[in-house]
Amino acid sequence: MDTADLEFTPEEMSRMGRVVLEWCVEHVAALAESPSRGDVAGAPDICRSMRESAPEQGRPLEGLLQQLFEEWIPRSFTTPGPGYFAYVPGGGLFPTALADLISNTTNRFSGIFHAAPCLSQVEGNVLDWIRDWMQFPASARGTLTPGGSMSTFAAVVAAREWLTGTDLRNGVLYRSREGHHSIDKAARLAGILGDRIREIAVDDEFRMRPDDLEAAIAADRERGLRPFLVVSSAGTVNTGAVDPLDVIADVCARERLWHHIDGAYGGFFHMVPELRPLLAGLSRADSLSLDPHKGLFLPYGTGALLVRDGEKLAGSHAATAGYLPDPIDDDLYDASRYGPELSRPFRGLRVWLPVQLYGVAKIRAAVAEKRALALQIHESLAQVPGLQIVAPPHLSLFAFRLTWDGATPEQESEATRELVERVTNRGKVMLSGCTIEGRFLARICVLSFRTREAQARTCAEHVAEETAAILAECAT
Ligand SMILES: Cc1ncc(COP(=O)(O)O)c(C=O)c1O
Repeated sequence: MDTADLEFTPEEMSRMGRVVLEWCVEHVAALAESPSRGDVAGAPDICRSMRESAPEQGRPLEGLLQQLFEEWIPRSFTTPGPGYFAYVPGGGLFPTALADLISNTTNRFSGIFHAAPCLSQVEGNVLDWIRDWMQFPASARGTLTPGGSMSTFAAVVAAREWLTGTDLRNGVLYRSREGHHSIDKAARLAGILGDRIREIAVDDEFRMRPDDLEAAIAADRERGLRPFLVVSSAGTVNTGAVDPLDVIADVCARERLWHHIDGAYGGFFHMVPELRPLLAGLSRADSLSLDPHKGLFLPYGTGALLVRDGEKLAGSHAATAGYLPDPIDDDLYDASRYGPELSRPFRGLRVWLPVQLYGVAKIRAAVAEKRALALQIHESLAQVPGLQIVAPPHLSLFAFRLTWDGATPEQESEATRELVERVTNRGKVMLSGCTIEGRFLARICVLSFRTREAQARTCAEHVAEETAAILAECAT
C-alpha cells in the first residue's frame, strides 16, 4: 500500500462528489421548512465536547457528512433561509458553490497574471462589470476581497498612502456615529489609531451631518492635524441609513479629502437604474467597498473594492520581487497589484459563473424586489398600533420599537427585545435588533434572494401579532 499517495481515482472522486451534492441539494430543499434560527442553545458546552485530536487514520466520508449536516449545520442561524431578515442577509447562490468546486479542483494561481492569464481576465471582467454598475470611470481599478472589512482596509491604506505619506500619525479619519465598526478596525490595521478617528453626529434619520463634519475638519486643521479621509455609509447596518453622499462628496472635494463609501450593505442597489437616486453621489466616491456576498446574494467570502483612480490603489499595493515575472501591460488585470494578497482563491469565478448563468437582468430584478418587499412590510407595520417606525427604509432595511402611553425608554427597549425574540421563536422569521444611545430597536432587513412575497407577508403578520400580544400584556 502506497501510504503517501493522496490522489483519489476518477471513480472515487465522482462518487464522493455525488454524495456531497446529494446532501447539499437536500439541505437547500429543506430550507423553507427549517427553523429560521437553528437551535444554538447550549452552544459553548456542545463546542467544548466537540474538541478532538486529528485522526491518525482516515474516516469514511458518509459519517463525516452525516454529523456535519445533521448535528452541526442545523445548530446555527439559518442565514440562507427565506425567513432570514436579521443583520444583513447573505443568501448563497448555488452557482457559486459550483464555481468554488471548479476553482478548488483546478487550483490555478490567480494572484499574478502570468500564472493564469485568462482567469485573471475573468476577474478583471467581473471588476469591470461592478465598475459599470456603480458608474465609476474607466480609470477605476479594484480587487475582490474576502469581504467588506478587508475592502475598507485596503481603501484606508490607499488613502493614507496617497494623502499622508509618512506623516500618518497626524492623519485624521471621519465617520458618522453610525459608521460600521469595521471602519475603525480597518483604520487601526492601517496605523490610524483611535485618537485620530472622529465620530460625526447624525440627523434624525441616522445620516451623517455634513455641517458637523465640516466643523470637525476645521477644528482638526486648527490643531495642526491632517484630515485625509471621510468614510460615509451607503446603508448603515443598524438602520439602513444612507448618508448624504453627494453633499459629503462636495465637502471632500472642497477640503481635498479622500471620500470612501462603505457600500457593503447597500451598494448593489445601484445596479437598478430606478433606485440610483437613493444613492446619489455614490459614483463620485474616491473608493467604494461592496459585498457581493450580501447585495449580489453570493455565499460568504466575496467582497469588492473599487478605487476611482486605479493607480492610487496600485500605489499602495503593487509589489514585486526578483523571482516573479516582469510587470504586464496596464490594460491587463493583475490581482496582486491591487490588493494585499499574493496567493489567494480564484474569487472571480464566484461572481462570473452566477452572472453568466442568470444574466444581469434577473439579478437586477431580484435586487429591486428586495427593496419592494421591504417597503411592503414597512407600510404594513406602520399601521400597527403601538409599533413606532424609528428609521424608515432608505433601501431595504428599517428599524422600529414598541411604545405605549406612559412607557419608559427601558420598558420600551425590553418590550422590543421581547418582540424580536418571540417572532424569531415562532420559527418562520428571524429578526435581530440593535442598541442606539442605550435604546433597543428591532430591525428588518430584506436581502436574501430566497425571501419572496410569501415570507414578507409572514414577517409582517408575525410582527403585528406579537406586537399586539406584548402590548396587551404591558397594558395589564
Ligand atoms: C454596513 C456594513 N459595513 C461593513 C460590513 C463588514 O463587511 P464584512 O462582514 O463583509 O467584512 C458590514 C457587515 O455586515 C456591514 O453591514
